Amino acid sequence: MSGYPSEMQDSIRQVESTRTRRIKETFPAMSLEERNEILEGFHPDYKDETFHAVQVGVSKGQRMPIEMARVLEGRPHVGPDFDLGEAEIETDVLVIGGGGAGASAALLAQEQGAQVILVTKLRFGDANTMMAQGGIQAADRPEDSPAIHYLDVIGGGHFTNDPDLVEALVIDAPLAIKWLEDLGMMFDKEPDGTMVEAHGGGTSRKRMHSARDYSGAEIMRTLRDEVRNRESDIRVIEFAPAIELVLDEKGQISGAVIVNLETGAKHFIKAKAVVLATGGGGRLHFQGFPTTNHHGATADGVVLAYRVGAPLGFLESMQYHPTGAAFPEQIVGLLVTEKVRGLGAQPVNKLGEQFVYPLEPRDVEAAALIRECSERDMGIVTPTGQPGVWLDSPMIEMIHGPGTIESALPAMVRQFARFNIDITQEPILIYPTLHYQNGGVCLNADSSTEIPGLFIAGEVSGGVHGHNRLMGNSLLEITVFGRRAGLSAAAYVQQVTLGKPTLAHVAAWNRALDEAGVETDVTSPILLPDYTRRV
Ligand code: FUM
Repeated sequence: MSGYPSEMQDSIRQVESTRTRRIKETFPAMSLEERNEILEGFHPDYKDETFHAVQVGVSKGQRMPIEMARVLEGRPHVGPDFDLGEAEIETDVLVIGGGGAGASAALLAQEQGAQVILVTKLRFGDANTMMAQGGIQAADRPEDSPAIHYLDVIGGGHFTNDPDLVEALVIDAPLAIKWLEDLGMMFDKEPDGTMVEAHGGGTSRKRMHSARDYSGAEIMRTLRDEVRNRESDIRVIEFAPAIELVLDEKGQISGAVIVNLETGAKHFIKAKAVVLATGGGGRLHFQGFPTTNHHGATADGVVLAYRVGAPLGFLESMQYHPTGAAFPEQIVGLLVTEKVRGLGAQPVNKLGEQFVYPLEPRDVEAAALIRECSERDMGIVTPTGQPGVWLDSPMIEMIHGPGTIESALPAMVRQFARFNIDITQEPILIYPTLHYQNGGVCLNADSSTEIPGLFIAGEVSGGVHGHNRLMGNSLLEITVFGRRAGLSAAAYVQQVTLGKPTLAHVAAWNRALDEAGVETDVTSPILLPDYTRRV
């Protein structure tokens, strides 16, 4: 018996009735003008009233979602008088963040001979890396090249990406894949041993490497195992998020204050360099959107780096993944990987008609889905009021043969089977979901920032993807810039001499908030989302 209620099944019958016809049809991709028009009309980034220009700090005036500005303009957890006198722990490199970028940085820094401590808010591996499904891009086939990959990334980003960062991303990509494989990552392979490589939205070549639809989990497993293999050299401290960075009187990074989530005790970890790899801010639920992100994704790194004076960029740009689950209620917002469309499933409306080319760049695809459910009123509304359109997954087996879905998309099959939805037989109800923060802290190609001793990697940063990231370039980004951050931090600690640690910037921050007249009851970073029901 299907998990879809009878009122939704009427629409499913319509989807079934058009399937054989649709499978033979190719829906045209949009022109540049059409793309711009649909973005301006329907993409959440274009809703001006949901943005706020930040009132304090080095990037004062920059627009960002109200929810992001609220945490950015929060008060610190510690005052300038917090005792930094006797650091209980000292290290060369302090990595903040236990996802793929942090783990990559820790490994590379350790290989260069640095002492490394990795602190993580929740368990090591509780991160968006773990939840990533579709794959990781790298141009490593004869018909492809980093130059072609570069053009795809820049085109996908609406030509606003930082060219040096894109160059670093695509040049290191084949090396990143080899590194992961050498560490033991089980990539999908063809019978002849070559990598399975597929298209993602906006790619002109097949270069998406995967591990079924558990690609991120497999990367995280590999990196976490390797860090644990080196536990004598890399110390991991779990449930210990950073709540403030610490500078010395010369303005150089000299560590961070962390909090023990169990006891509430705060400790100073002294470090010659910090790698910030805290991920993004999906759990801030911009404009009320659900999210694919893990619970710790509360933009902590942006808050921490900004308070010590690191400039921000591209924070007006968020990624809404076109295909979040829209039914059942328990999983609304969870990811339905782009791979489902890559394998041929078409998005169709309540009458079973296609309305968009399935592999438009993500922002365009998401805007088209929103338009179908709003202006055109061609979406389905669930019993709890959630709008959505169908993603016609049963098409995949008509195209590629029986068994394809179970073998290529086991995570998807399981996610929906728990609710009696068999995606080999029934379509999936989808709606855009908050997925990724395109912007963040500005970085250089070697992962350094404006702050001496502060290195960053992954979603906390901004500039690599311009205003729209393509699928598979996030798992790539964490690996490439995580590795670069580890290398750069290890080199930096060789030559830096630290002065006296101080939290003077906290006093300056509080003063700036007062002078700008910012009234806030937020203490940030907020560390975890607040889902308390208020009556
Ligand atoms: O659709 C996906 O599998 C997501 C991949 C990504 O954001 O890179």
